[in-house]
Amino acid sequence: MEIFQQYHIGERCLIVDIHFSSKPELNAQVDELCGLVNAAGWQVISSVSAKRNYPDPKYFCGRGKLDEIKQQLAACDIELVVFNHSITPSQERNIENVLGCKVIDRTRLILEIFSQRAQTYEGKLQVELAQLNYVATRLVRGWTHLERQKGGIGVRGGPGETQLELDRRMLRQRIAQIEKRLEKVKKQRSLSRASRKKHSVPTIAFVGYTNAGKSTLFNKISGAQVFVKDQLFATLDPTLRQVNIPKLGQVVLSDTVGFIRNLPHDLVEAFCATLEEAIEADLLVHVIDYADPEHLAYIEQVHQVLAQIHADKKPILPVYNKIDLLDNVDAGVYYRQNKPSEVYLSAYTGQGIEYLYEAIAKFFNQQWLKGVLVLSPQHTKIRAQLYQLGVVEKEQIAESGDYHLAIHIAKSDLTHISQTNKLELMANFSQDDSL
Ligand code: GTP
Repeated sequence: MEIFQQYHIGERCLIVDIHFSSKPELNAQVDELCGLVNAAGWQVISSVSAKRNYPDPKYFCGRGKLDEIKQQLAACDIELVVFNHSITPSQERNIENVLGCKVIDRTRLILEIFSQRAQTYEGKLQVELAQLNYVATRLVRGWTHLERQKGGIGVRGGPGETQLELDRRMLRQRIAQIEKRLEKVKKQRSLSRASRKKHSVPTIAFVGYTNAGKSTLFNKISGAQVFVKDQLFATLDPTLRQVNIPKLGQVVLSDTVGFIRNLPHDLVEAFCATLEEAIEADLLVHVIDYADPEHLAYIEQVHQVLAQIHADKKPILPVYNKIDLLDNVDAGVYYRQNKPSEVYLSAYTGQGIEYLYEAIAKFFNQQWLKGVLVLSPQHTKIRAQLYQLGVVEKEQIAESGDYHLAIHIAKSDLTHISQTNKLELMANFSQDDSL
């Protein structure tokens, strides 16, 4: 849906970055904004920076700065100004009136990138929802194309209804419609996730700051051709692959959207479904760009986003990537010093990847059991519960009538069944470590 003005590839931009001494939480990195502008397919032609104590309520950066920006726009033939911050709808209008060109903020830029990248039906719905919510706060003029596009959703509610009221109503209706569709997609996704759980396949989600190398690592392991590009947010939709990890067996990997600092809350909400794979995974592999001097700050940002989506209590395996760009990082030595809780590798060259497999296998082998459980004939209820969980791989009935069940089960599930049946099942279980 064409809610937003459409921009062209190669759009020439001027970026504005203000450093607030009394409001450090509003400050953002200029390098990152340039990366975002490039990710949108635009060019940074010029930039203006300034220092202030607080944002100006009317113009965000102050009237004098706007004159300087205006001169630069004319000198460099630029028609788009991007602020490295969130600005209010009224500030945006006031600045546009002074500059006579389009002004967008950081949230809008991230939305633009998301909308260019969304591939799946769900991803597209999520982006549209985030865009509509963004527009809803800025609705001052007509969006009648909503009516044209979605025949029937905007029937004028009587002669007293103004264009603005009509637009707001159409927007609300469209938002409700998308939310309903998303709900349906989410349900389908949770069903397939439940079925994976039922079949006791361990799940691993790759998380990490944008550009850390998640998709490269994902491809390396799965042999899948996920879109990899030196751009922020190259991946938007979650991608799932079933792969075989040595000494462990089948696992499901999911690649998720890259995290970014100060991700606007609306976007976190909108992309929660994309990140649901991370919320539901048994293990999070946190991919870190170890060659980036800022990596400690990025680790912190990722932890903050995980807390926002309530996934911060999940087990996390930090994977320090891109060691091929660093001198003196020996994957084996570093792993042995920290094993199995940290891994150092290069997703690009594949150096150190065996330690990732080892750490993953160790993790799941501590939490998952594979072996044979012997049940006496009267324990048919327990047998039924195991079948219901989908964890029975093979069954044999001994001459005594005992069931010998080859199972692959989460330790927590076996403990739960033991407790509910008041029977110490571990005593009847023999683990097969060679599996
Ligand atoms: P988002 O989709 O933005 O979340 O990015 P991502 O974390 O999936 O990163 P991606 O795999 O797209 O990699 C980003 C850039 O880093 C690409 O140019 C990769 O080629 C590069 N890269 C990834 N891993 C390595 C590595 O181990 N070494 C080097 N030198 N470059 C790497």
